[in-house]
Amino acid sequence: MKSSATIEALSEETRRFPPPPELASGANARPGIYEEAERDYEAFWASWARKLEWSKPFTKTLEWNEPFAKWFGDGELNASVNALDRHVRAGQGARVAYYYEGEPGDRRSISYAQLLAEVCRFGNALRKLGIKKGDRVAIYMPMIPELPIAMLACARIGAAHSVIFGGFSPDSIVDRVNDSQCVALVTADQGWRRGKKVLLKNNCDAAMKATPSVRTCIVARRVGDPVQMQAGRDVWWHDIVADSPIQCEPDPMNAEDLLYLLYTSGTTAKPKGIQHTTGGYLTGVTMTHKLVFDLKEDDVYWCAADIGWVTGHSYIVYGPLCNGATSIIYEGTPDFPDKDRLWEIVERYKVSILYTAPTAIRTFMKWGAQYPAKHDLSSLRLLGSVGEPINPEAWMWYREHIGRGRCPVVDTWWQTETGAIMIAPLPGITTTLPGSATLPLPGIAADVVNEQGESVPPGGGGYAVLTRPWPSMLRGIWGDEERYRQTYWSKFAHKYLAGDGCRRDAEGNYWFMGRIDDVMNVSGHRISTTEVESALIEHPKVAEAAVCGKLDGMTGQAIYAFVSLRGAESGTPGLADELRAHVGEKLGKFTQPKFVTFTQELPKTRSGKIMRRLLRDIAEGRTLGDTTTLADSTVVKELQERAASESARDEA
Ligand code: PRX
Repeated sequence: MKSSATIEALSEETRRFPPPPELASGANARPGIYEEAERDYEAFWASWARKLEWSKPFTKTLEWNEPFAKWFGDGELNASVNALDRHVRAGQGARVAYYYEGEPGDRRSISYAQLLAEVCRFGNALRKLGIKKGDRVAIYMPMIPELPIAMLACARIGAAHSVIFGGFSPDSIVDRVNDSQCVALVTADQGWRRGKKVLLKNNCDAAMKATPSVRTCIVARRVGDPVQMQAGRDVWWHDIVADSPIQCEPDPMNAEDLLYLLYTSGTTAKPKGIQHTTGGYLTGVTMTHKLVFDLKEDDVYWCAADIGWVTGHSYIVYGPLCNGATSIIYEGTPDFPDKDRLWEIVERYKVSILYTAPTAIRTFMKWGAQYPAKHDLSSLRLLGSVGEPINPEAWMWYREHIGRGRCPVVDTWWQTETGAIMIAPLPGITTTLPGSATLPLPGIAADVVNEQGESVPPGGGGYAVLTRPWPSMLRGIWGDEERYRQTYWSKFAHKYLAGDGCRRDAEGNYWFMGRIDDVMNVSGHRISTTEVESALIEHPKVAEAAVCGKLDGMTGQAIYAFVSLRGAESGTPGLADELRAHVGEKLGKFTQPKFVTFTQELPKTRSGKIMRRLLRDIAEGRTLGDTTTLADSTVVKELQERAASESARDEA
């Protein structure tokens, strides 16, 4: 059997949810917005850009010298002014910017005026330390208010920040700091995670042995245990801001000046420093945050991601603050002290918009609906998902047990590279379908193409691409123009390659099917990992599943499934057969996993994505590739042993 399709589309989802009428009637996005954007997409983006405050208005919208874009390139503005000063000047200084909740239970609410004052104090302190416009500053912190303060203070004085997720090791700090030659490193003594202390400053000390560009290390006090401070290099945050003025003149930035770098770990090669600039990025995150989450004056908005990822940059810091939103920042994990911590927070602050990831939702499913059921979640009115394809079962569970059947679910597709959401429903307009990110947002042009770069007809699958520039797009990879061209702009002419597999249905809805590199080839069928995983998750005993291909003499590749079960279920050969039959029935016999290994946990990155590359190594019995991005390395050993016995059984 041979198939020429780039990727086959096997499942069919028929459930659909039109927007609730009361939401639709007052929604921020009005019908007609798609047509308006299509008539003149540059003018559309320019009108959103003009909602920001410019110290020098732009006269040019887009200069496109493929693959390099300049948006609003002759305008000047400052990101921290747009995030803070603007609202304070408009009389909104007392409005809460962040409700902060530390893992041990400490709480603070921080108004826009207070946040502005803190940002100014820290900005002045940075300047006094000799940090200036054009420098890069690394930030390695827990989820404490000092983290967004540090980011915004950098933006205020024109230094680019490079946030390094607080779960990374000293080696990861070294690579990232050296790549972009950061002059300073901002950290905290320690952080809290599941009741344990994370040794942030210690990690920095280890890293700074190999980061000659770092002149200064600024340490915020979070936990309070003593840490080593090296004279001449290390300073306490509270000392340097002690007599710092609360006014700090913002540096006017060109729209195309670097706002930040954020490193994405390529699965094999060294991390890429993704560059985001000021004007276009702020335009993209502000517009999408307002429309996709339908943000209103009285909303309490919570993006439960870590600021160390792009989701946090765009939808905890820049998007919400530019829109004057009231947000939550929570330091810790969802299961501390118990598995209902998130729901307790939703109830306490009357959260109305919640944005989280499929991996979290599947974990909540595994723990069981009794945890959210303990809390009053009636304040919620909108739910969002990001980070991975959301399996239809997880989508339905989210809608039912968290949204209590009332809240639209917006599945938002985007990437570190895209800066802002690209494909997602507009909750007042779009009919949603469980598992689909639905349609490109107004102003965004996307397509699904085959190996030759031709648009695939409705119903077909292929490569997801973006077909014209957008304001929040990456401006390149730090120090590696060629890699930028190669990675994103070389496979197809004039198209940005996202690297994701995708299917589009007859109505034009996009169904993302995982990374193209993960596609399995069984008897010539190109099968997406997402579809097989979603079929497995539909089985009532399954909580989470990850599949990958394993070389097979008969079929080229055979499907190998790693399955974790709900609650008290245990894995048996009988259940494995039941799962094979279930998948076969749902998607076709050729998609039945040949191998099934049960496991408590799946190997995930620190941002919660399943590491299928590692699973492939495990399935093939190979030595494991790079495991530095793995969240919990104990998971892997056990899997290796089980997989070895599973393979031995097959050979016998
Ligand atoms: O594979 C897609 C998946 O996450 C990748 C981007 O990862 P990152 O740069 O870490 O950014 C994550 C937060 C934006 C994409 O290439 N992805 C993200 N959102 C979705 C998704 N896959 C399917 N559906 C989504 N909603």
